[in-house]
Amino acid sequence: MPVTTIREVPAAQRLNNVKYAIRDLACVADEVAKKGHKILPLNIGDPINFDFQTPPHLIEAVYKAMKDGKNGYAASSGIKEALDAIRGEAERKGIRSVQDVFVTSGVSETVDICLAALLNPGDNLLTPSPDYPLYSAVLAKLGIELNTYSLNEDDGWQPDLIDVHKKIGPRARGIVLINPNNPTGAVCSRRMLEAIAELARRNNLVIFADEIYDKLILDDDEHISMASVAPDVPVVTFGGLSKNYLAPGWRIGWGIVSGDAAAVKPYIEGIHRLLRSRLCANHPEQYAIKAALEGPQDHLTDVRKKLRSRRDLTMKWCEATPRVSCVSPRGAFYAYPRLDISENDDVFVKELLVQKHVLVVHGSGFGQKAGTKHFRIVFLPDEQTLTTAYAAIAEFMKKRYK
Ligand SMILES: Cc1ncc(COP(=O)(O)O)c(C=O)c1O
Repeated sequence: MPVTTIREVPAAQRLNNVKYAIRDLACVADEVAKKGHKILPLNIGDPINFDFQTPPHLIEAVYKAMKDGKNGYAASSGIKEALDAIRGEAERKGIRSVQDVFVTSGVSETVDICLAALLNPGDNLLTPSPDYPLYSAVLAKLGIELNTYSLNEDDGWQPDLIDVHKKIGPRARGIVLINPNNPTGAVCSRRMLEAIAELARRNNLVIFADEIYDKLILDDDEHISMASVAPDVPVVTFGGLSKNYLAPGWRIGWGIVSGDAAAVKPYIEGIHRLLRSRLCANHPEQYAIKAALEGPQDHLTDVRKKLRSRRDLTMKWCEATPRVSCVSPRGAFYAYPRLDISENDDVFVKELLVQKHVLVVHGSGFGQKAGTKHFRIVFLPDEQTLTTAYAAIAEFMKKRYK
């Protein structure tokens, strides 16, 4: 018998750039938990981990679908009643030039498919910095170099239009706008949306409008859909059940393609090739889409009330704590405080976890302006948990930074 040695199987080199700080910290957290410590998780944006429940009428719709035998593959673009409901929602949001809608396994898959369907090697896509790390992970997977534009902390984390303009080179194919934003909680004004639309129009860019938090507006702002202010521009609007409808584990998202019909036709065909190649999104869960978009919305009043009071508590703490400052979040459930400390924010976050068992995510995991330091708080936990966590962070900082 020849003696053979089993050789190591290296992962593809392009994965070196795939980072997902939000979950990457889980390994350190496991170590801390193994030592018997209870971790205060202010790191993952999953409302179901806290005092939020999926609305019962959505659960019933999925249960009924399962009992009715909707357990086979669905059409690749999604079931008709869901697609009709998404078109209805687009109409309510003032999106008039809808050319296509499709259902995916979460917005994560919408992003994967829409970016893969657009970008050729050498092309690039403008993504915000700080950024929800899904975008850079998908770009790394596609072998596309990052081209980030700044969100301006001094301007309430609005996109820095001068920087956007600067970053639009000859191979730029699109721009991502997350509104309301993760990790900053910023919400864009109509004027800002119009300015970005104009830049896209002049430079032939597709706009990816990630509006997964559009019903979680915390103050009196109105959420304006990018596609509603730019009917002629190719826009893909992302939405889903994970956040607004408290069902992240069902993995249901969607895309709404709008813009000039002839201009977006080949791109839509590309998207559908990829939709067909992965068969379909989760089937029975798609039956919750119509129930969600057309049924009672009562849960949202309660969700927004809780989030508003938890945001206010978070801001009070930020204002009272030395070395911490924060732009007040106006949507979603994230705050992105700035730290005035000498060490890097990944060290801050790791030491905070090890010493005080509070889990937040470091700003460097999202990208930030050189020399600045931040951390992201998920303010989904109840007031009692947040108060305990904030007291622990304050104590940690007092001791560590004097
Ligand atoms: C801005 C943003 N887009 C997309 C997603 C992914 O959503 P889904 O659960 O629908 O895949 C998230 C999840 O946190 C997010 O914050």
